[in-house]
Amino acid sequence: MLEISQHKAQLRDYFNGLGFERWSAIYGNAPLSLVRQSIREGHNRMLAVADAWLADQPPPTTALDVGCGVGLFSLMLARRGYRVRAADIAPQMVAATQQAAAEAGLSDRIECIEADIESLREPAQVVACFDVLIHYPQPAFGQLCTHLANLTEQTLLLTYAPYSSLLAALHRIGGWFPHSQRRTEIQMIRDQEVVSMLARAGLRVRRVQPIRSRFYHVTLIEANRA
Ligand SMILES: C[S@@+](CC[C@H](N)C(=O)[O-])C[C@H]1O[C@@H](n2cnc3c(N)ncnc32)[C@H](O)[C@@H]1O
Repeated sequence: MLEISQHKAQLRDYFNGLGFERWSAIYGNAPLSLVRQSIREGHNRMLAVADAWLADQPPPTTALDVGCGVGLFSLMLARRGYRVRAADIAPQMVAATQQAAAEAGLSDRIECIEADIESLREPAQVVACFDVLIHYPQPAFGQLCTHLANLTEQTLLLTYAPYSSLLAALHRIGGWFPHSQRRTEIQMIRDQEVVSMLARAGLRVRRVQPIRSRFYHVTLIEANRA
């Protein structure tokens, strides 16, 4: 099993190169293959649900978008009135968020920083972390999730890949292929494990929404500080 630091280094390299090309296309508007189109649709739906959940939060102050990618949710947070810190481990992603903020006229509300989750120290009212922890197996998942919870003053919005025995079997089969033929691996976790680790960090799960398109399967949760 890889050390967490090795996982982070691999993901940083991936999302700063090939992963940046792949994912910025998925997060964009240009035509895509059916598989990637399905991921785009699922991801857009997930962001729309999370954005709608912000509507009944206390008046907005600060927000942290961790693993911000190209900044799609950072823009939504800023439009809802939050002062946003958008952080990502991959410099190309940070640069893309900075450019998106400038193009949207929101640079004064979004501060973009190149940072690993665990280097973040300043808490925020709302912490969002979408499709980031799906890349980390246990115990790294738990370590990062607990750090996010500790940064959360009020609300944590998080996605994870829910455990499915069918997908677990497919992953085992995928594991037999050479590394060069694989994409990033999605790490599944059981719902109850996530609920328990958040509870240990003082957060109670308030809303849960499975998001399913053909090739995009995540669970979105909102957890609040009790
Ligand atoms: C699949 S993208 C999701 C982007 C964005 N959250 C979204 O849903 O639109 C995953 C992002 O997590 C970032 N990431 C991975 N590990 C990270 C870490 N330890 N700290 C900060 N960012 C990380 C990657 O660089 C990448 O931009």
